[in-house]
Amino acid sequence: MARFLKAGEQDLDIVVSLLCAGELVALPTETVYGLAGNALREESVRRVFEVKSRPFIDPLIVHLADYEQVEEIACVPAVLEQLAESFWPGPLTVVLKKKEIVPDLVTAGLSSVAIRMPAHSFIRRVLQRSKLFLAAPSANPFGYLSPTCAEHVRDSLGGQIEHIVNGGECVHGIESTVLDLQDPRNPVLLRPGPVDQQRLEAVLGRLVQGRATKLCASMSEAVPSPGLLKQHYSPRTPMHLLPSGIMDLPEYAKGPVAMIQFKRQSDRVIPSNMQSFCLTEDGDLCVAARNLFALMRRLDGDGYALLLVEEAPPGGLGDAINDRLRRGAGV
Ligand code: TXA
Ligand code: MG
Repeated sequence: MARFLKAGEQDLDIVVSLLCAGELVALPTETVYGLAGNALREESVRRVFEVKSRPFIDPLIVHLADYEQVEEIACVPAVLEQLAESFWPGPLTVVLKKKEIVPDLVTAGLSSVAIRMPAHSFIRRVLQRSKLFLAAPSANPFGYLSPTCAEHVRDSLGGQIEHIVNGGECVHGIESTVLDLQDPRNPVLLRPGPVDQQRLEAVLGRLVQGRATKLCASMSEAVPSPGLLKQHYSPRTPMHLLPSGIMDLPEYAKGPVAMIQFKRQSDRVIPSNMQSFCLTEDGDLCVAARNLFALMRRLDGDGYALLLVEEAPPGGLGDAINDRLRRGAGV
């Protein structure tokens, strides 16, 4: 069974030695908790896939501490400097052409590698002190909701990993924005996240293409970013979505139903077989994103026949929340 380590100076050296020795450690980041292993050591990377039951065709993000490290593992386009100045360290992942040093296992055989410089102070210190490149997918079983606190990691992976650093609740609560920069003149947003499309476009001075390709129904379809499966981030309880702002709720014969409102709406009539929850009291998108996975995890396994979730208003972080909701519901 996993033990908790502290996200402070006292356990920093222990975590660094574990990772340098090839072990896996679950670490807090500002987005979600990651399951970290040495990205340049194949047996560590293999173990990351195994623990998550993640298919080997879904590549991992490599985390690093310093801008200068990027060129060790990837070809650096000129535009990256402006992006890094604006958003790193922080919740932006860029996909670049990879260099040979990165094992094919990390990138699922692709010629590109996804790179991110996380902002959370503990993982930053781990990266700085160890000088490692850390492969770190979200620390959840493949396809399930991402973990936003150490207890989430323990509850779903605690039987398979030994070390979880407890850094409390993640600030953003949803995963980083993923931007494909392999063709710098044609940047593509692969996964919406805390850094939204408008802010990227403002810094890049050009339009960012959304995902032109539809989400993939299965792993066997051609995938622009293999993690972009239509069904992902899913609770075990069936989940239906409702349009943002809907006032007349449909009746569901089977109960009990958990109704997750985006924002508390006192004049909304909730049918008697529904229990109501909300992601935010006042419509703050940052708060909604931070609460999203934690609330869904809490309700999943609480005996509900259905999770009914109201979408967030579109735009900015609302798009990232709705992306996770739609994929959670598989629509
Ligand atoms: O916020 C985050 O990004 C978290 C924290 C732990 O850093 N990590 C995370 O990793 O969400 P993961 O593995 O759960 O999601 C990585 C996403 C997947 O959709 C994967 O397919 C995509 O990034 N990805 C990784 N490498 C890629 C590549 N070379 N080309 C396209 N997509 C890639
Ligand atoms: Mg994930």
